[in-house]
Amino acid sequence: MKHQLKNLKTILLPAESGIKSAVDFLKQNEIVALPTETVYGLAGNAFSSIAVASIFEAKQRPLSDPLIVHLLDASWLNRVVSITPELTKLVERLAEAFWPGPLTLLLPRAPAIPDLVTAGLETVAVRVPAHPVFRKVLEELDLPLAAPSANRFGRISPTRAADVKQELGEKIPLIIDGGSCHHGLESSILWPHDGILQILRPGPIIAEQLSSFGTVVTKSMHGKAPGSLKSHYAPRKKLSWYDASILPSKEIGMLAFQKAPRGFGVTEILSPSGDLKEAASNLYGALRRLDESNTISLVVEPISEEGIGHAIMDRLRRAVAR
Ligand code: TXA
Ligand code: MG
Repeated sequence: MKHQLKNLKTILLPAESGIKSAVDFLKQNEIVALPTETVYGLAGNAFSSIAVASIFEAKQRPLSDPLIVHLLDASWLNRVVSITPELTKLVERLAEAFWPGPLTLLLPRAPAIPDLVTAGLETVAVRVPAHPVFRKVLEELDLPLAAPSANRFGRISPTRAADVKQELGEKIPLIIDGGSCHHGLESSILWPHDGILQILRPGPIIAEQLSSFGTVVTKSMHGKAPGSLKSHYAPRKKLSWYDASILPSKEIGMLAFQKAPRGFGVTEILSPSGDLKEAASNLYGALRRLDESNTISLVVEPISEEGIGHAIMDRLRRAVAR
């Protein structure tokens, strides 16, 4: 892959007028940032190695880190996966329960998928997004779209169009503004294999919701899902765990769940009412604002790991690990 330094003028369009342009760009194997219900994605034709290579280049993402392929519905699966009748039954049940929505499945790939998409692995990650803008683009284009989160590699995922501009402005031709993302946290990644359902990345669909489909294990795999890299989703400033021994100071930015002690330079509260889903949807925006704020370092309060709290803590641990 050639590493050209792109210096494009990035156009930001509202959904109503932008969908047609997005489809036109994608047809020419150009890449476009689109909203999903989880985070913004950087989309390209999943069957085009050129489009997929451009995604890696714009994100400065290592080629060893595979992409998720987005489908309009489960009827598109046979274009991208090659699965046994037994696995098909399970996938149909999962699709019925969770698609469109924030569940990604790792399934044996079909030969049509370029190696770049899967980083040479024998599985391909697939999901059916729920966001109407993304769905409209898929429908008009009639092609599966590879789309990682629209941030530079290792950084905080974007949950608003302005975040994408900050991350990838001048590297991509078009961003479609679909407002703030509903979940604010990336999809759950599930790998059905050897009679178990292995959650490789916790997300909005939680283990309890999957337990009626089989034995759920939550052990992430190093090397299998590079999103499980120890350090990821990181702000530029140093981020540490908050505990009561840390004295508030104007030089420290505080990320708290429901309420925070006074005296920090900037404070972000994820959910004043203590709602974990609201906290998830505010997490990346709050981290981004703290990173931009006039403080030197950041602290974050650990939260309860029930429900989606597990996925929030997963992301925070990686953000702290830098
Ligand atoms: O919610 C989401 O999933 C968002 C939106 C845009 O759909 N996408 C997203 O993509 O989070 P990305 O590329 O930022 O994260 C996908 C994760 C990566 O950690 C990647 O390593 C893992 O999925 N992955 C993709 N294909 C895989 C495969 N075949 N085997 C193991 N892990 C895979
Ligand atoms: Mg990502």
